[in-house]
Amino acid sequence: MAGASVEPVSAPEPVVRPARWRHLWGVRRLNRQLFPEPYAFWRFVGYQLSSQGWIWVAEQGDDIVGYAVLTLSLYSEPRRMVGEIISIATVPEVRRQGVARGMLRQALSRAWERGVGQVYLQVAVDNDAAQRLYRAEGFTVERRLKGYYLNGDDAWLMVVARPKPA
Ligand SMILES: CC(C)(COP(=O)(O)OP(=O)(O)OC[C@H]1O[C@@H](n2cnc3c(N)ncnc32)[C@H](O)[C@@H]1OP(=O)(O)O)[C@@H](O)C(=O)NCCC(=O)NCCS
Repeated sequence: MAGASVEPVSAPEPVVRPARWRHLWGVRRLNRQLFPEPYAFWRFVGYQLSSQGWIWVAEQGDDIVGYAVLTLSLYSEPRRMVGEIISIATVPEVRRQGVARGMLRQALSRAWERGVGQVYLQVAVDNDAAQRLYRAEGFTVERRLKGYYLNGDDAWLMVVARPKPA
């Protein structure tokens, strides 16, 4: 129509929330799209069913644009509960907007609420973006895991301790 102006449609802000069952297909899709060694779907089902596992998603409209998974496990010697960030990812279109940071902070809050003293994760030694995110959130390198990935690549084992009460 002559003279009509077209307003640009901007995508809504991604919103981070605990995953519902209906989100798991989107989580699996992202996991397959973004990782060379994706998980079987049942693993996400297991995390969702477990009382010691949590999945968060970043929703943008009807799309899942990010997810993060935390699990808690009982370790021995010394006996303690330990958290692990199993996987975290965002789609390229929403990167550098703080979406992964938001999901990671929710996961760490849950771990600290549950009385966990430390949260671990593994990250490929060449994954600079993820390492920067983790360092910015307080993680430090504990050690190098030789041949951690199926292709033989090494990983850093990184850890963050529960913040001391102020
Ligand atoms: C790593 C990843 C999850 C980061 O997601 P993201 O949503 O872009 O991260 P955020 O926007 O929350 O970034 C938070 C901080 O992390 C750091 N960071 C994240 N991506 C970075 C990059 N590409 N380069 C430098 N620093 C980066 C920055 O400090 C950033 O803060 P800033 O933007 O204010 O400088 C995302 O790049 C990704 O999904 N990669 C592929 C999957 C993957 O590697 N997952 C991790 C496996 S261990």
